Amino acid sequence: MTRSGDDKLNKPKYHVFVCTSSRVNGQQKGFCHTKSSVGIVSSFMEEIEGRGLGGEVAISNTGCFGLCERGPVVVVYPDNVWYGGVTDSDVEEIMDEHIEGGKAVKRLELSSS
Ligand code: FES
Repeated sequence: MTRSGDDKLNKPKYHVFVCTSSRVNGQQKGFCHTKSSVGIVSSFMEEIEGRGLGGEVAISNTGCFGLCERGPVVVVYPDNVWYGGVTDSDVEEIMDEHIEGGKAVKRLELSSS
């Protein structure tokens, strides 16, 4: 079989990771999960689709980042910006300011100290 060359890998400009406390066995349990992080993933998916950014922004749910007490945690790459205490109502602001505007949302940003 020959490759057509049509199946190019489209690398996203941004990749948003949301901690949903998923365990290796698929079970979802833990702090961020109890704080409705699955709903945050859904909200990002709706915003990305609604803005026609499906090819530019990828969204993934992840396991624990080890910052549970500061969760729910959302990380945006390649900017390496870490957000904490994110709620459903913050998703639109992250999309407006950071993903489309290119500026991190300072009030939600976790510092490294
Ligand atoms: S469960 Fe989300 S950072 Fe630990």
